Amino acid sequence: MADQAGRQIDTVMQESRLFPPRPSFSDKARIKSLAEYEALWNEAATDPAKFWGDMAREELHWFEPFTKSLNWNEPFAEWFVGGKTNASYNCLDAHLEAGQGDRVALLWEGEPGDTRRLTYTELHREVCKFANCLKTLGIGEGDVVSIYMPMVPELAIAMLACARIGAVHSVIFAGFSAEAIADRNNDAQAKVQITADGAWRRGNILPLKETVDAALVKSPSVKHCIVLDRVNEAIEMKVGRDYWWHELMDAASDDCPAAPLDSEAPLYILYTSGSTGKPKGIKHTTAGYNLFAKKTFQWVFDHRAEDIFWCTADCGWVTGHSYVVYGPLSAGATCLMYEGAPNFPAEDRFWELVEKYRVSVFYTAPTAIRAFIKWGDEHVEKHDLSSLRLLGTVGEGINPEAWMWYHNKIGGERCPIVDTWWQTETGGIMMSPLPGAIPTKPGSCTKPLPGIIPEIVDESGKPVGKNQGGWLTISHPWPGMLRGIWGDNERYQEVYWSKVPGKYLAGDNARCDEDGYYWIMGRIDDVLNVSGHRLSTIEIESALVSHPNVAEAAAVGRPDDLKGEAVAVFVTLKNVEPTEELRNALKQHVRKEIGALAQPDDIRFTNALPKTRSGKIMRRLLKDIAAGKETVGDTTTLEDYTVLANLREEE
Ligand code: PRX
Repeated sequence: MADQAGRQIDTVMQESRLFPPRPSFSDKARIKSLAEYEALWNEAATDPAKFWGDMAREELHWFEPFTKSLNWNEPFAEWFVGGKTNASYNCLDAHLEAGQGDRVALLWEGEPGDTRRLTYTELHREVCKFANCLKTLGIGEGDVVSIYMPMVPELAIAMLACARIGAVHSVIFAGFSAEAIADRNNDAQAKVQITADGAWRRGNILPLKETVDAALVKSPSVKHCIVLDRVNEAIEMKVGRDYWWHELMDAASDDCPAAPLDSEAPLYILYTSGSTGKPKGIKHTTAGYNLFAKKTFQWVFDHRAEDIFWCTADCGWVTGHSYVVYGPLSAGATCLMYEGAPNFPAEDRFWELVEKYRVSVFYTAPTAIRAFIKWGDEHVEKHDLSSLRLLGTVGEGINPEAWMWYHNKIGGERCPIVDTWWQTETGGIMMSPLPGAIPTKPGSCTKPLPGIIPEIVDESGKPVGKNQGGWLTISHPWPGMLRGIWGDNERYQEVYWSKVPGKYLAGDNARCDEDGYYWIMGRIDDVLNVSGHRLSTIEIESALVSHPNVAEAAAVGRPDDLKGEAVAVFVTLKNVEPTEELRNALKQHVRKEIGALAQPDDIRFTNALPKTRSGKIMRRLLKDIAAGKETVGDTTTLEDYTVLANLREEE
């Protein structure tokens, strides 16, 4: 990138649709108007440490009050210095004390259709008991507990039990390999592994315990393994190492007061892939993270007591940490949790669940939305979705046409859509519409939340102008920010704080338009450089997705002698056969939508795109394929290796 110092990214996107919140929504919202949002944002920006400090006093329970809001010794932040609190207390005991113990905390449905329902009192009891089980295995403050489980209530219970006694959880998504588990366990020096005999996935059983057995051979720090009986599989239990969850629970007391923990006591580690090399263990701590998850949940999802909130993310990702567990439960919300696949037993499973549980706020990922579009509207139309009042997305940019489909077909044109931009590292939502206050534009995450100060800069760190693409940075520390990479302060400094002095570098490109709306343009590493113009992946992809036959698209640069890079796109189609005619039509379509510059040179049709296990398109791999190169770098996060193999065969 050094040879392009100071260069900006050209925007070619033309999107001018604007959707103001309906008065009937705004009237009842927590933040009711743009003016109210702006006042709050300005107040926070004047003195962020004071703003968050005042809020922390109000929103969290303090065993001991903090003496200072923020110690900032770049790049190391300490929030709410000297205070003592407990995230499990804030999620559970606080509601019991307020007389809200009978409220439903979790509604759960398993993939086979079994159901459970836990009130705050019941959840509290389970968490206390399981915390005592961990204690009997010698787990205490600062010990790392590795969790590899299906989306069952016990996953949330295990997380909250760790938080209760000051143990640090490291949740590993239950699709990762034994190798990936062992790497993470070793990096974190985990002492206990929690898993299940198996997990349901599209009617089949994933043998979780078998995978864990293979991982534990290579994880010498792990001394014990607790196994939940989820699928009734015959599994091997290693005497002296393995314990059944239910047997430990039967013997456990339900009395376990929450430990008063330092504000900066580590709460969890969550591994996220870097573009190369070994995964990074992102470290989050107690008070700041807890406050940020709670407050952003309340603001963005405009939480009301009567809501049934459904975040479809797995707790193996940060979205599950912040918006299945810590955010909603701190706010006393009722959450739906679903174990299985969206297309099992049929493609309407999600809509069946929305109808059955009368879900009012629904939060999912663009990759899922694009799949729903591909599967066809008939699955949606079978169900009554009138309970929905608010929709959200996270994880990738949403192409404007997918946004419109979500708005029309799922939201019945009445639900605001919150397109939330954030990262594992940020701990919670950073930019998003506040649904009662900020008019939305399809494809834009709109504006920063109060207390968040973004700035777009060029490669020399200078702010760029309106509508000019550049690096997205954050100017002031915020409570939910990562506190480091587990065991690697140098890498933390290098990745996030070394390229732009004094600012957090998010690793995404973005632009800010004339109305102060932010548009994420993709990862910095994914930029295309065509004839000296730097183009963003999402803009080309969105132009393709706006064609009626295109379900999904990924754009990458391929080396080209003349242009520097040529535009190569990979396209999946909606129920039509690929033809040469369609290929030409798509080229013309992009040319018409965004201009000749971005017209694809190569279009490859494919049945599926390579994605991470959390559903993000892995453009890095496509780039190698487009260039006819071997795949280099880390492929352990790839969801389905056959997709890559097929793409290579199709070459
Ligand atoms: O590139 C951005 C993209 O996902 C990255 C963060 O990924 P992860 O740490 O896995 O966390 C995902 C859940 C928060 C970001 O750097 N991303 C996330 N949300 C959006 C997005 N890109 C565009 N628009 C979004 N709303």
